[in-house]
Amino acid sequence: MAAATSFGSLLMLSLLVAAQANFLFNRFNGTEKNLLSLDGASIVESSGLLKLTDRSKNVIGRAFYKTPFKMLETNSTAQKNASSFSTSFVFSIVSPSNSGGGYGIAFVIAPSTKFPGADPGHYLGLFNKYNDENKENHIFLVEFDTVNGYKGETDTQANHIGINVNGMNSTASEPAAYYKGTSSNKEDFNMENQDAVCVWIEYDGEKKRVNVTVAPLSIGEKPPKPIMSEPLNLDDILEESMYVGFSASTAQKVSFHYILGWSFAVNGPARSLNLSELPEPPPKEKDRSSSASWVNFIIASLSVITFILLVTLLCRTVHRRYMHFEKLEEWELDCPHRFRYRDLHAATKGFKESEKIGSGGFGTVYKGVLPSTGTEVAVKRIMRSPTEGMRGFAAEIESLGTLRHKNLVNLQGWCKQKNYLFLVYDYIPNGSLDSLLFNRNDGLVLDWEQRFNILKGVAEGLLYLHEECEKVVIHRDIKTSNILIDGDMSARLGDFGLARLYNHDQASHTTSVVGTIGYIAPELTRTGKASTSSDVYAFGVLLLEVTCGKRPIATDQFFLMDWVIENYRSGQILEVVDPNLNFVYDEIEVELVLKLGLLCTHQRADFRPTMRQVTRYLNWDDPLPEILDWRHSDSQISRSFSSGFLTGYSTGSTSTSNNLSTTGKSTMSIEAGR
Ligand SMILES: *[C@@H]1O[C@H](CO)[C@@H](O)[C@H](O)[C@H]1NC(C)=O
Ligand SMILES: *[C@@H]1O[C@H](CO)[C@@H](O)[C@H](O)[C@H]1NC(C)=O
Ligand SMILES: *[C@@H]1O[C@H](CO)[C@@H](O)[C@H](O)[C@H]1NC(C)=O
Ligand SMILES: *[C@@H]1O[C@H](CO)[C@@H](O)[C@H](O)[C@H]1NC(C)=O
Ligand SMILES: *[C@@H]1O[C@H](CO)[C@@H](O)[C@H](O)[C@H]1NC(C)=O
Ligand SMILES: *[C@@H]1O[C@H](CO)[C@@H](O)[C@H](O)[C@H]1NC(C)=O
Repeated sequence: MAAATSFGSLLMLSLLVAAQANFLFNRFNGTEKNLLSLDGASIVESSGLLKLTDRSKNVIGRAFYKTPFKMLETNSTAQKNASSFSTSFVFSIVSPSNSGGGYGIAFVIAPSTKFPGADPGHYLGLFNKYNDENKENHIFLVEFDTVNGYKGETDTQANHIGINVNGMNSTASEPAAYYKGTSSNKEDFNMENQDAVCVWIEYDGEKKRVNVTVAPLSIGEKPPKPIMSEPLNLDDILEESMYVGFSASTAQKVSFHYILGWSFAVNGPARSLNLSELPEPPPKEKDRSSSASWVNFIIASLSVITFILLVTLLCRTVHRRYMHFEKLEEWELDCPHRFRYRDLHAATKGFKESEKIGSGGFGTVYKGVLPSTGTEVAVKRIMRSPTEGMRGFAAEIESLGTLRHKNLVNLQGWCKQKNYLFLVYDYIPNGSLDSLLFNRNDGLVLDWEQRFNILKGVAEGLLYLHEECEKVVIHRDIKTSNILIDGDMSARLGDFGLARLYNHDQASHTTSVVGTIGYIAPELTRTGKASTSSDVYAFGVLLLEVTCGKRPIATDQFFLMDWVIENYRSGQILEVVDPNLNFVYDEIEVELVLKLGLLCTHQRADFRPTMRQVTRYLNWDDPLPEILDWRHSDSQISRSFSSGFLTGYSTGSTSTSNNLSTTGKSTMSIEAGR
């Protein structure tokens, strides 16, 4: 009995001394959303896989455990001891079968979950050429790299594992391999060819040594000996509070990068994954080049010939029937995002009135279910003028189709048919932010936490468009009705890049301002040139609108922005908060959002923050700068300006609910109402 008690207190003591902390995910089932912070292209798939990147070029996907771990013991003598830690996880890389993919996955321990300005490709979404190898980074990583030739130095081999500190120059690296049994025979393997790869990483804080063990999932157990066991002192690398997670990226070479399961612990061994609970590894692409035998070849040729004959026959019949229905120009065959009109017709039951879920500035939206896959989609039908410049138009849409972000309504594809253009989007169940804020018929009110999360989501989506995708995409029409709300109440920004397509279509010497009244930055009306900072302006209006629960221009006497400024100046900014919130909100957050809204809607474009800065403010990474005067010009001017604008609009002849039909003659095309 006494022994048991002393054992108990011993246990208590050791718990106090070495705060042990751990977690285990045998699969990702969606309930861990609150535990993980996903960034960039990463999403949790319904199959239980955590997908870090898809096969888009130059994407970054990260997933970090949201809660930081204490990974450094210090005391008054300023002596620092990095904690021991241990992790095991299973990853899978699916590369194109005909060439190697890229660029790899890294297990990362870092002081923050944000990596501002980090590049994809060799930098794996963690560094860029300016901060690579910087001592201030405090980042430890183990990389699983599938592309060779980084700087031609240590990382010269594809398919290798590297242990890195603060940058991409590995302190040690080794081709992927594992030890079999007790022998000293190494078995090499290619990480890209395996269904999945198991990894164990252990750091011993006392002996200052890191071990890395890898093995194909099919081996089913941990090899007896690590493939790498390197002396490494992390005392000056790890900090008191560190985040753990993964980062993966693509560039010219692309692969899908997945995590199947993950376990982690500080000051103790990570719990073992239960391999039978892991999700199915993603399917590999079939290797087309390996069917070598002649017999195969002959059989294959014969079946190809038969197939061609059959197809020709079929085509002739079908062609006759559908000739009038769907005629492809040659260049259209190169567009992977092109849908067949027939499929869209079937999906939406022939664009039936009952399937209509909305109509906006850009056309009518129908809900549909794709016959081939059963996926729910939203199909937007846009009437457009005849097909001049259609080729450039298609190239533009194709490039929008490669954009992927969790806070965007992803464009799945497009199709043109006669004078219509169809855009196919992910279907988002909860409707638009506009309807949730202003036209809700179930009597519920978005609470502050939901609103704050939605705003942060929009900011991340916009940051992706401005800075993180291949080329800068300016949204040009940010407003509540273009923000859709997902099943888990997160925001998805829609209709991005479309406004540019409009201009594309018009004679290029005319400029037309596309946007919605109340969200148009002042310089835009003068120069007609949309920029990332005119998007920031519209985002600022959105911040105010969502917090106050009022539209930017409610009547021609009420201008939301002026009202917020007045209240701000008289020191009672919380007066403007949406009364529907019933005073239930976090005052500090509300104040941040309102002030940021004012900063973003600054009359002078160069005073507005970038979206990168905006997200840092919203995540409390940086304090909002104190600016005493939020406005340079007199607010009276902006008021008379906006009201003049309104009058011009209401008496103007160019008002139409469809921007597309606005002709090049007008200098402004403004969407009526919302
Ligand atoms: C999802 O995963 C968590 C942690 O791995 C587990 O506790 C939970 O029971 C799972 N939920 C479902 C519905 O499988
Ligand atoms: C660091 O580790 C050494 C050796 O294990 C130990 O003597 C020392 O007390 C530790 N210091 C701190 C601050 O934990
Ligand atoms: C601080 O470090 C010294 C020297 O390693 C050790 O003797 C002492 O116990 C430590 N104090 C605490 C509070 O951990
Ligand atoms: C990379 O590391 C090697 C050895 O660790 C060193 O010789 C080389 O200078 C480093 N290169 C860079 C660019 O830091
Ligand atoms: C690392 O590997 C070495 C050699 O196999 C072994 O002696 C040591 O115990 C391992 N360390 C950890 C923390 O697993
Ligand atoms: C692993 O999971 C399977 C299926 O859920 C279960 O039957 C088995 O007991 C688990 N094994 C361990 C060691 O937890």
